[in-house]
Amino acid sequence: MHEDDGIVDELKPQAVKAAGHSYSPYSQFPVGAAVASLTGRIYTGCNVENASFGLTQCAERAALTAAIADGAIPGSLPALVIYTPGLRAHPPCGACRQVMHELMAPDSLVASCCDGDDVKIWRRSEHLPEPFSPGALKHITHKDP
Ligand code: THU
Repeated sequence: MHEDDGIVDELKPQAVKAAGHSYSPYSQFPVGAAVASLTGRIYTGCNVENASFGLTQCAERAALTAAIADGAIPGSLPALVIYTPGLRAHPPCGACRQVMHELMAPDSLVASCCDGDDVKIWRRSEHLPEPFSPGALKHITHKDP
């Protein structure tokens, strides 16, 4: 039993439910995500694929976007749980980690679960070493062309 199992137990059913709405005819890999806000609200997302494959949206980014659209403060989100199908819990893709870096709190929890008991839990800050950060865009002097 992990100290953070409580949040996984709370968010997993929501992530599983969101995965049920996944549009993933190309990969047949329905993913769901549930994000908790500081005010105790839960936002969900699922992967939505497209015949133009590069336009596919991951479940995690869909859930994070829903939280921001409802007024959650960027950088404040405390927990996100991902559901992937099968008996192994899979970590989020790099693009989603980059977005989590900017929208979730540094000590926030990111967990992955599946159809079995396998659960993986990280601190957001530990699963993306050396992220590209907003600070990089400050103090830039643009030269005239
Ligand atoms: N997918 C996610 O939704 N989240 C991830 O972190 C990794 C991959 C989706 C994208 C695509 O629809 C399917 O899973 C297979 O890559």
